[in-house]
Amino acid sequence: MDAQLVDAVVLVGGRGTRLRPLTNNTPKPMLPTANFPFLQHLLARIKAAGIEHVVLSTSFKAEVFEQYFGDGSDMGLDIEYVVEESALGTGGGIRNVYDKLRYDTAMVFNGDVLSGMDLAGILETHEHKNADVTMHLLKVVDPRAFGCVPTDPDGRVLAFLEKTDDPPTNQINAGCYIFKRSVIEQIPAGRVVSVERETFPQLLEEGAQVFGHVDNSYWRDMGKPADFIHGSADIVRGIAPSPLLEGKTGEAFVDPSAGIADGVLLLSGTSVGRGTEIRAGVRLDGTVVFDGVTIEPGAEIKDSIIASGVHIGANTRISGCVIGEGASIGARCELLDGLRIFPGVAIPDSGLRFSPDA
Ligand code: GTP
Repeated sequence: MDAQLVDAVVLVGGRGTRLRPLTNNTPKPMLPTANFPFLQHLLARIKAAGIEHVVLSTSFKAEVFEQYFGDGSDMGLDIEYVVEESALGTGGGIRNVYDKLRYDTAMVFNGDVLSGMDLAGILETHEHKNADVTMHLLKVVDPRAFGCVPTDPDGRVLAFLEKTDDPPTNQINAGCYIFKRSVIEQIPAGRVVSVERETFPQLLEEGAQVFGHVDNSYWRDMGKPADFIHGSADIVRGIAPSPLLEGKTGEAFVDPSAGIADGVLLLSGTSVGRGTEIRAGVRLDGTVVFDGVTIEPGAEIKDSIIASGVHIGANTRISGCVIGEGASIGARCELLDGLRIFPGVAIPDSGLRFSPDA
């Protein structure tokens, strides 16, 4: 199928509550991930597949997307925006972009999934089967935490099943769909609709041609802090593919404007953003550091997110935490295991020894 005759629709309207406080002011798809807004990696993959027209289905903090990406021409894309007055859910968000679609085929992406799937491959399946909807299905080791989607030997989807302890298949819905434009028109307009719970089951009941494209490509839902951290590190290390880092993958990805002192260790897919200063003897392990952060000598940070403008004092130890924008953590503190520090909070020197087990 000629990818230039396909619209890409990206759902980016969610509130990202599981990533608070990072998402208080920034929508989840705009959070820096390996030094680029997460969505930019997906847009680069869309462009690399030959698709040029992209519609962003926005709601929460809609203006942030347009301020950054504009009309998309810097990326060689043609980006349009649709804003929901109130969030319409995944199906409502897809229906709401209908008037912007230019072609008969729309590829819909969940804007917070990091995926290595073969976009051309799923388009080929859609064309070959002459499907109404083709969905990307992923084979996982443990499907119990997901809704699962069994298919027949021909790839036809048989059912959409809710989470269960005893799933009949290890194929899960990976959150990327190809729709015939006419199917999108049939989704009810102007109200909240879930594609997963309403649209897809109804299509099956009506006997529509719904097919699965099954693979076991890289896949991660970036909705929770631990996944966000690991996903970012996987991009840095080249485990999750991004055209933005081609030829630049490795143990760490550092913005050229950052200052890294001697004897600093940057490991396991750490990324360091613009204007950040990292002083002597600091060790960063699998950590996402946003812009304008200062980390004083001897600090050790592992598997954490350090948001913009944060100050970390000397010899402080942080593991598995989220430090919100502009927070200041004094010297010789110890923050462990899932702690979230809210934006602007100031903790004095030796002021915090925290772990849920303490
Ligand atoms: P949580 O609040 O942490 O669950 O995150 P979320 O609000 O982003 O929800 P979820 O992860 O289930 O959303 C999946 C994808 O759909 C994300 O890319 C969201 O941005 C997007 N999305 C969720 N709800 C809406 C909506 O009402 N409208 C639009 N346009 N997109 C949505």
